[in-house]
Amino acid sequence: MQNFQYYNPTRIIFGKNTIAKIAEHIPEHARILMLYGGSSAEKNGTLGEVRFALAGRTVQEFGGIESNPTYETLMQAVEIVRREKLDFLLAVGGGSVIDGTKFVAAAVNHISDPWDILTTHGVNVTQALPFGTVLTLPATGSEMNSFSVITRSETREKLGFASPRVYPSFSVLDPTKTFTLPLRQVANGVADSFVHTIEQYLTYPADAMVQDRFAEGLLKSLVEIGPKVITERENYDLRANFMWIATLALNGLIGAGVPQDWATHMIGHEITARYDIDHARTLAVVLPSMLRIRKEAKRAKLLQYAARVWNLHDGTEDERIEAAISNTEGFFQSLEIPTRLSAYEIGPDAIDGLIAQLNVHGMTALGEKQDVSLDVSRRVLEAAL
Ligand code: NZQ
Ligand code: ZN
Repeated sequence: MQNFQYYNPTRIIFGKNTIAKIAEHIPEHARILMLYGGSSAEKNGTLGEVRFALAGRTVQEFGGIESNPTYETLMQAVEIVRREKLDFLLAVGGGSVIDGTKFVAAAVNHISDPWDILTTHGVNVTQALPFGTVLTLPATGSEMNSFSVITRSETREKLGFASPRVYPSFSVLDPTKTFTLPLRQVANGVADSFVHTIEQYLTYPADAMVQDRFAEGLLKSLVEIGPKVITERENYDLRANFMWIATLALNGLIGAGVPQDWATHMIGHEITARYDIDHARTLAVVLPSMLRIRKEAKRAKLLQYAARVWNLHDGTEDERIEAAISNTEGFFQSLEIPTRLSAYEIGPDAIDGLIAQLNVHGMTALGEKQDVSLDVSRRVLEAAL
């Protein structure tokens, strides 16, 4: 196992009717900005519950944070926080609202141009406002991690940052708040959390016994509940399990002390930035080809994945590996998520542009061994057409 530091200060408040408790977790004299997305949180009553729980407190509101939150919109929130001297943020929504709130938290008192936070991937973040979250979409793990991904619409760039200063101080996870999710978003959440687990697990053996078993438990649970959690909209137990799985898939625990890949995510972000395809859907397109192209480097873990997650024990090594990759594709397809670029009418002429974007963003040596060069990324995209 590799050396590691494991740190996670986020308090989780999980279960039905837990929004009522948020006031206990926000300092009494805090001047709060509640941030949210489009209309979903208003329509399903989540915002109403938050307003009720914070009655009597100083609360202002900022709505309109988009999916793939933009720098341009978030800078408007930064201005409000500065002007109104607000000092606590509360994100109500999915990964986009939470990521956006992390950016606002770090940008408000940032000493130079806030876009630097993204171009330096967070290394220059020395402070951030405290914030909490009310999660409405299980998918990204943003509710218990220190990552954020922001899009600049002007330049069609999608960049991430990480900083220990942007862990939420608390996150409320009420599974009933997911009942109103469109089926497409639930499917996206299943696929995203599946790929988060894969990116930290399917690398090379690192003698990390419990991280492997834990990752396999998350993957098997997702396979077990995947299609059901989508169709059984108001099944509390399924939604509760799914919500906790998605959080655990990217809260740092399974990634501690093990090599991590993330090449699929980095290529996926470029696809979203150029073609506006949902984050999770880009991953379902890239991952199967990524695994096939990098089969030799990942051979030992692919065999372990085949045996322990998919119970594949017969046939040659290559047959078991191919069966595991096709099962992965089949799993995404069972969620009605396509696994080819052609499903989005993206053809071979798109590849040069995507590779150029990876190059501009320094994504030239990706993966657990930094051996995913632009040439390898090109082959992955070609195989995903
Ligand atoms: O905007 P509203 O009206 O709220 O609607 C949202 C949005 O249209 C809707 N929604 C959310 N909760 C709902 C609901 N609709 C009905 N009922 C509810 N309870 O769902 C739509 C998608 O929301 P969004 O927040 O964009 O989705 P997601 O949580 O998948 O977040 C995606 C963003 O997170 C980033 C992605 O790149 C993308 O920008 N990621 C963040 C990560 C992190 N912070 O660790 C890691 C991930 O790999 C990912 O990159
Ligand atoms: Zn993701």
